[in-house]
Amino acid sequence: MTYIVANWKLHGSQDFVKNYSEILGACLNTAPKEKNITTIICPPFPFLERVALAGVIHGFSAGAQDCSAYESGAHTGDVSASMIKEIGAGYVIIGHSECRQKNPNEHQYISQKILQVQKAGLTPILCVGESLDVHNTGNADSFVLDQLEKALKNYIDLKNILVAYEPIWAIGTGKTATLQDIVYMHRAIKSAPLLKNLNIPILYGGSVKPDNTSEILTLDTVQGVLVGGASLKAETFNFIVKAAF
Ligand code: 13P
Repeated sequence: MTYIVANWKLHGSQDFVKNYSEILGACLNTAPKEKNITTIICPPFPFLERVALAGVIHGFSAGAQDCSAYESGAHTGDVSASMIKEIGAGYVIIGHSECRQKNPNEHQYISQKILQVQKAGLTPILCVGESLDVHNTGNADSFVLDQLEKALKNYIDLKNILVAYEPIWAIGTGKTATLQDIVYMHRAIKSAPLLKNLNIPILYGGSVKPDNTSEILTLDTVQGVLVGGASLKAETFNFIVKAAF
């Protein structure tokens, strides 16, 4: 299975969803069945239901970009995992570095959010990754393993999760991690005590573009990519999807 995930971040509109879905759908129609490609589109919340409905017609899944750490209650502005499930999405990105940066206490909520996602019957896409400062100390692997350990400490169904390694210094910078960096960190993640022998799909994210997707996907530690900027034009995203054909 190869996962090609689009994170639209704060972009999109109703018209955008319609046009994008049609263009992406035409591409997915030509996908070789034996390749087993799962395409997941993660729009802002107001468009999630539309994306989920369009996905049923055009052959992709919908994911949310975050969810509440709570099931219900006095949490103004929150959206619960069960609400996300109810409108037809299948996945939720948890722990994206942009959410972690916005809320310095985010790390305290990640394991709770993952639990909510699991309880709702959805699959979390857990993002981990180090800053440039941490990268330069040479301790990126222990930093990422610590993020994983904290995020997964309460998680029961460890088989039902995707992990995305997104080094912060590679996000939106055009500076993709080297293939060696990716393999090194993916191996570290795969051998994390909690994940050992579970064969969890591990994705890479950070300046993924049409011209570097093929080489990233040829790495045997990589089961997919998480794409920001290059997912915002359906035609460009199609080239990334086709790299998995
Ligand atoms: P870019 O592809 O724009 O670097 O963003 C990556 C990302 O943050 C996906 O979640």
